[in-house]
Amino acid sequence: MSESMANYAPGGLECWGSIVTPRKDDAPAGGDEAKDATNAKELGEVSYATVPLMLATEVGNLIYHGKTKEERMLDYVKENATASNSAQVLEAIDKFCDDNWMMNFGDAKGKIVDDLIRAHGVHNIKTAVEFGGYVGYATVRLAGVLLPTTAIHTIEATERFCDTMKSIYDHAGCGDRIKIHNVYSSEFIKTMVAEGIKADYMLFDHQLSIYTEDIVLLIKNKVLNPGCLIVHDNVLFPGCPDHKKWMLEQEGVLFENRIIKTHVDIPGHGRQGKQTPDELLVSKYIGHDKAIVFLSEDLLGKVNSSIVHL
Ligand SMILES: C[S@@+](CC[C@H](N)C(=O)[O-])C[C@H]1O[C@@H](n2cnc3c(N)ncnc32)[C@H](O)[C@@H]1O
Repeated sequence: MSESMANYAPGGLECWGSIVTPRKDDAPAGGDEAKDATNAKELGEVSYATVPLMLATEVGNLIYHGKTKEERMLDYVKENATASNSAQVLEAIDKFCDDNWMMNFGDAKGKIVDDLIRAHGVHNIKTAVEFGGYVGYATVRLAGVLLPTTAIHTIEATERFCDTMKSIYDHAGCGDRIKIHNVYSSEFIKTMVAEGIKADYMLFDHQLSIYTEDIVLLIKNKVLNPGCLIVHDNVLFPGCPDHKKWMLEQEGVLFENRIIKTHVDIPGHGRQGKQTPDELLVSKYIGHDKAIVFLSEDLLGKVNSSIVHL
């Protein structure tokens, strides 16, 4: 772990080897360490321990000519994709990723999820929520598959990613379909409770170490509709073995689960090239009754009780 990442721990999260930068008003209060944290290389920093394969392409390539890699990707998309053509936007992002490692969902997983959603039935999805929006790749795909009337919310803690994502949506022509929330996932669960938002589809694509905590919060706060389809990304790489184990233990009680084997593309090799195995965990939420009995006994310690309303 680099020095700046270690210093950053009090005010930020580590996700997929990147520092998640909170909004300015979430910055840690006072002190040089806090200043260092908010001024630290904001984005794209690599966790040496977690994703060594990405190092070669990442180091020294964080902010170049004042732009993040994600902002350079946006420029590339604007140059190479016709406005309001979401298929071309996705293709341009995929092409950019052939030479630049990015943590977006990608084409291979995207196709799998498109098919899963069609098989689940688009009419069964009135509200879709993504935890971890990044550059908006998965949500542009989602907008293309779901009905125009479906509400789509994407939750992204890093303000600068939200700005890039908004421009991607606007260029793809789906800016009016997707609501961006620049908050942490746990904050958005409070919004779901307050505004009566209940999800029929969820993509977990954020900080792996809080997947279990967040799913428990969603269930306890009754903001998942029975039958909700939940896709968890990166279950094998970088991996969340404890979450996978916990979810599989709930088989037939809280969820019906299945594992789909897939891969992450390694930059420089392109989609035809070298791939690292990964898994999607796909879960259908069974319903509230069993869930509440089960969770009230077992998992109170796992969640922030201030937002649990049973
Ligand atoms: C793997 S990327 C998401 C990729 C995105 N789904 C796509 O298709 O482009 C993970 C993102 O989650 C964000 N993130 C991590 N933890 C978060 C949290 N607790 N709440 C909201 N966003 C979070 C990070 O800032 C990062 O942009």
